[in-house]
Amino acid sequence: MEFLEELQRRRTFGIISHPDAGKTTLTEKLLLFGGAIQEAGAVKSNKIKKGATSDFMEIERQRGISVATSVLAFIYKDKKINILDTPGHKDFAEDTFRTLTAVDSVIVVIDVAKGVEAQTEKLVEVCRMRNIPIIVFINKLDREGKDAFDLLDEVEQKLGLRVTPLSFPIGMGYDFKGIYNIWEEKLNLFSDDKKQTVTKGIEFSDLNDPKLDNIVGENSANTLREELELVYEVYPKFSKEVYLKGELQPVFFGSALNNFGVKELLDCFTEIAPTPQPKMSEERLVDSKENKLTGFVFKIHANMDPKHRDRLAFVKIVSGTFKRNAPYLHVRNGKKMKFSSPNAFFAEKKEIVDESFPGDIVGLHDTGNFKIGDTLTEGEHISFRGIPSFSPEHFRYVNNADPLKSKQLQKGLVQLMDEGVAQLFTLEINNRKVIGTVGALQYEVIQYRLEHEYGAKCTYENLAMHKVCWVKPDDPKNEEFKEFRRTKQRYLAKDKQGQLVFFADSAFTIQMTQSKFPSVKLHFTSEF
Ligand code: G4P
Repeated sequence: MEFLEELQRRRTFGIISHPDAGKTTLTEKLLLFGGAIQEAGAVKSNKIKKGATSDFMEIERQRGISVATSVLAFIYKDKKINILDTPGHKDFAEDTFRTLTAVDSVIVVIDVAKGVEAQTEKLVEVCRMRNIPIIVFINKLDREGKDAFDLLDEVEQKLGLRVTPLSFPIGMGYDFKGIYNIWEEKLNLFSDDKKQTVTKGIEFSDLNDPKLDNIVGENSANTLREELELVYEVYPKFSKEVYLKGELQPVFFGSALNNFGVKELLDCFTEIAPTPQPKMSEERLVDSKENKLTGFVFKIHANMDPKHRDRLAFVKIVSGTFKRNAPYLHVRNGKKMKFSSPNAFFAEKKEIVDESFPGDIVGLHDTGNFKIGDTLTEGEHISFRGIPSFSPEHFRYVNNADPLKSKQLQKGLVQLMDEGVAQLFTLEINNRKVIGTVGALQYEVIQYRLEHEYGAKCTYENLAMHKVCWVKPDDPKNEEFKEFRRTKQRYLAKDKQGQLVFFADSAFTIQMTQSKFPSVKLHFTSEF
């Protein structure tokens, strides 16, 4: 197959949701349709079980699963679909944010009874900032939930989206009969009361056809007619172009568990979802159709075997063809590197491949050369944007608990930070190290992994801070910045890249500091 054909058939996306909305179930059903797995239950949930926060086995179990489900690929109607896993647990939100830099579109799963939940709001905000095309799937229609129109309103208001339904439910919960597929003008109904089998879609372009009454009953037919009339009146007509710009979000209803509405979602997805997109680098816009290879690392995963300290770096291919054993430039350290066993992902397996194309993810074995955000090229010096660090929300001093192992501690900390497990800051005033994380769970992961993989021990001391802000003075030489440095000396630190950060103990402090030193800008992410 030609390069351009390979590119055109790829769809790389992520499924995001609040835990329990049905992400794992939906993923599994998609893989079933792709023939990549044979039975339900094959995809393991990467969820952290409730109440398991101090169970190390649980953390290890989760890590094992998240390697296996990092990328799940399958072929459907000749399209190569790559699903990138996004942890739903809020303590791993930063992992998800980084993965969103590698997707070309997303599907958001919402529980019909719970509506829009906190974690979904955060994740969708990141997608909106980047204009990522979004499809919404409202799940669990077999249960009683919110009214469809109320839910659509909630999605618009809480997620800031502009929606248009491409399917509409007929009844809900006990009365759930099926959906009308607006996209294909078909009726999909359950064929028995147990709600386990589904009829083939019945073509139904004219809803006034009296046959509809015979099929779903007069009451349901009339309600559907009225509701659809409202849908056509109130919501904008679907336009693929506007969806691709990230300005209109189609909505589907269904039940992943009962396999209802999933095929319709997938059929529409393969037709409308974007092919591999161009990506902005610091230097220029890189088009996916360019034939020279470019790609970037968006995730690093430590090997599960502590005896081998090698890691797997996940590279998203932006342009060109990635070839096994070809020399590529590691832009940050200026070295040429060859990879003899790049992994490609298929369902839950990984295998060595000779060639990969834009949209694909390759897993490269790494002995410590890669950091998140690193770029590979055929020689050009470019670095991809859009892998910012977000301000952590928890902070602790880290102390060495075994003086004979300080080198190991140092090395372990640096490598874990390169993987993106947490962020390390060094206070300017006394050089003490502070670990910042999004969730408290990471501290246990770090302590456990330092001990088991590096033979180092650490203890923590709480540091009551609200956020770190990255500091950018309008003019580093002006008096105001000098005064800022003098008065805030105790709260200034450097991040891993050597950028100046300010530790703020409250939102009020940030406000006060900003109004006192207006020419010193404070940012919540490392990229601004
Ligand atoms: P997540 O990955 O988003 O966290 O959610 P997951 O798919 O694990 O689904 C969470 C729970 O919701 C699971 O039940 C799952 O079976 C259920 N579920 C998913 N889709 C539907 C649906 O369409 N209808 C109904 N009624 N339930 C659905 P669980 O009891 O927590 O787990 P399990 O023991 O069934 O695996």
